[in-house]
Amino acid sequence: MDQSHESVQTRVLSILSGRSEEDPFAAFAEARAKGPVLPIPHPMGSEDHNAWMVTRMDEAVQVLKDKKGFTVDPASIEAEGVRENLSVTEDSSSPDTFFTGKSMLFVDGFDHRRLRTLVSKAFTPKYMESLRPRVQEISDELLDKVESNGEMDLVKDYAYPLPINVISEMLGVPEADREKLQMWSSAIAKGLGWGRQDPEVAEHLNQFGEYTKQLVDSKRESPADDLISSLVTIEEEEDRLSESELISMITLLIFAGHETTSNLIATGTMELLDHPEELEKVKEDPGLVPSAVEELLRFNGPSTSVGPRYATQDTEIAGQQIAKGDMILIIVKAANRDEEKFTEAEDLEIERSIDRHLAFGQGLHMCLGAPLARVEGDVAFSNLFRRMPNLQLKYSRGEVEWNYALSSQGLDSLPVTF
Ligand code: HEM
Repeated sequence: MDQSHESVQTRVLSILSGRSEEDPFAAFAEARAKGPVLPIPHPMGSEDHNAWMVTRMDEAVQVLKDKKGFTVDPASIEAEGVRENLSVTEDSSSPDTFFTGKSMLFVDGFDHRRLRTLVSKAFTPKYMESLRPRVQEISDELLDKVESNGEMDLVKDYAYPLPINVISEMLGVPEADREKLQMWSSAIAKGLGWGRQDPEVAEHLNQFGEYTKQLVDSKRESPADDLISSLVTIEEEEDRLSESELISMITLLIFAGHETTSNLIATGTMELLDHPEELEKVKEDPGLVPSAVEELLRFNGPSTSVGPRYATQDTEIAGQQIAKGDMILIIVKAANRDEEKFTEAEDLEIERSIDRHLAFGQGLHMCLGAPLARVEGDVAFSNLFRRMPNLQLKYSRGEVEWNYALSSQGLDSLPVTF
């Protein structure tokens, strides 16, 4: 397609909508060169408020760390016409989910603190480290299953099942239900793009919420030693969590707990295969894997953008006037290759020392599961390349199909031999 007449903002938004064939990183570089804050059409067609795209690190951090100046919840701003949100068609008879209900991702202030505190103890780096042996076992079980075949689909056989099994064990999701959850989550992730919501998304969210509600009921009848049972106890006894918040929280933990981590494992493997010299370093010295994980997150991590932020007051970013109620879209993948912050920013260098990347966001909503994702990434890559040192693509590189959506990028399939 001839892109010369389209603005770079339009092309970046088209990448986020999942409908573009263009190389995303070339478009992101062009957007950075054009400026740190660029005007974009408002996704809700608002005439009262403008929308902006942020492409560079300093400006992204300014927005994400300014808890007074910006919010994830436009309804909390007292201004005419700021109530529109990127939410799906709501049906009051359906159970809430992380996307339609009140999950911590979409609230700020007291409610955000309350919701996040309830689960943050379960996500400390120390506790996540204690899960490492179990993550290792799951990784081994998955590789044992395919080892004698000499080939596998890295996405379906490894990158997807590893994180869904880890988060399911933590939460207490029965084994038989995990495939269903994975299917809904994947369909939801793919069905949402910038300005696009596929018709099936509402139905999948509904089924996801319905299922979670039943799971909560079953934990109420027979509690077990898992995170859902602990949250049910809090809901029943302490009046700190409503039923609808509980369901939203559990769907968020399931969705966020595996969809992104699967992408890290699949895309990360693809990037290492694309950079054989870097891969050799990892194979020679597995102690480099944690630093490789950070660089893979920076270079091409799962999240393209974080949730939109809204200005709570008139303000300025990099000299650009921003009015109260304006929407800010932060392009994480553009900021993570900001040449003012990283030398040779477009190169993958697994030994790079990184002060800060935005793959897990920043500020109050920074990823709660980052310590878990890091343990999973470390185990997944170390074990894969230790057990299958000759891993390579089964087909040519050109046949690998990327799949872009609103907030993340992934691969549907990655056939490899070993
Ligand atoms: C490589 C894997 C992962 C990546 C790249 C990732 C990325 C992110 C990002 C960018 C945000 C911030 C969104 C925003 O500011 O709008 C976020 C939030 C969140 N993530 Fe992750 N995530 C990953 C894994 C996980 C895991 C394993 C969990 C575990 C359940 C998790 C749970 C959450 C939760 C609960 C939030 C909301 C935090 C809040 O709003 O306070 N994530 N994640």
